[in-house]
Amino acid sequence: MTSILHIIASPRGHESNSRTLATTYINAKLEKDPSITIDTLDLWHENLPEFSGDQASAKMTFFGVGEMNNSLKTVWDEIVEIVSRFTSADEIVISVPMWNGSIPYKLKHYIDIITQPGLLFGFDPEAGYSGLLENKKATVFYTSGVFSPGANEKYGTNFHSTYLAWWFDMIGINEVKAVRFQPSLLTGTPEEDFNNALVRASTV
Ligand SMILES: Cc1cc2nc3c(=O)[nH]c(=O)nc-3n(C[C@H](O)[C@H](O)[C@H](O)COP(=O)(O)O)c2cc1C
Repeated sequence: MTSILHIIASPRGHESNSRTLATTYINAKLEKDPSITIDTLDLWHENLPEFSGDQASAKMTFFGVGEMNNSLKTVWDEIVEIVSRFTSADEIVISVPMWNGSIPYKLKHYIDIITQPGLLFGFDPEAGYSGLLENKKATVFYTSGVFSPGANEKYGTNFHSTYLAWWFDMIGINEVKAVRFQPSLLTGTPEEDFNNALVRASTV
């Protein structure tokens, strides 16, 4: 049985274009295979812990900085639990608008929590980073108001899909598909463009 984790990074609820594209994709998959399980992680309604001093110290123990004492172990256990929700999915679906050239801070917060040594990546001084995830894929639904691939740089620089592409590679997810509705605002034909994106979402 296949499982999908849908990570929602837009706070716009049912108004969100990226979320509508992702749910269109998921519904099309469910129509073909009703046994697929869907876990929805709405980052704007999820009570994620801060990633602050103790969490950072716990992470650094894996790089030889300090020791994992009992209080660090408690925050580490909480991280491991959040990571296991991510790693238990066969496919990661992310709906993500561009915010100020990059991803919304709630998604970066989540990535900072789950991107952990020994769980998502390994590190070797010679070989560098290596992804620890295997046999997983990801499908990402990107939206942006004015930026689009190939647009003049006066419409922004892409730290959005480029960042996520780097991160997927770092953690070992190599099969990544993307559907874009870009630009969503700086177009004379927003409805037509969105309908075309919906078709791409249901057939990707
Ligand atoms: C806080 C914020 C920052 C944004 N920054 C950008 C940006 O840098 N570049 C851009 O093209 N659009 C930007 N937008 C527009 C959104 O990316 C765009 O409206 C997108 O289609 C929203 O997707 P959604 O409906 O899934 O939320 C921004 C919107 C918000 C609310």
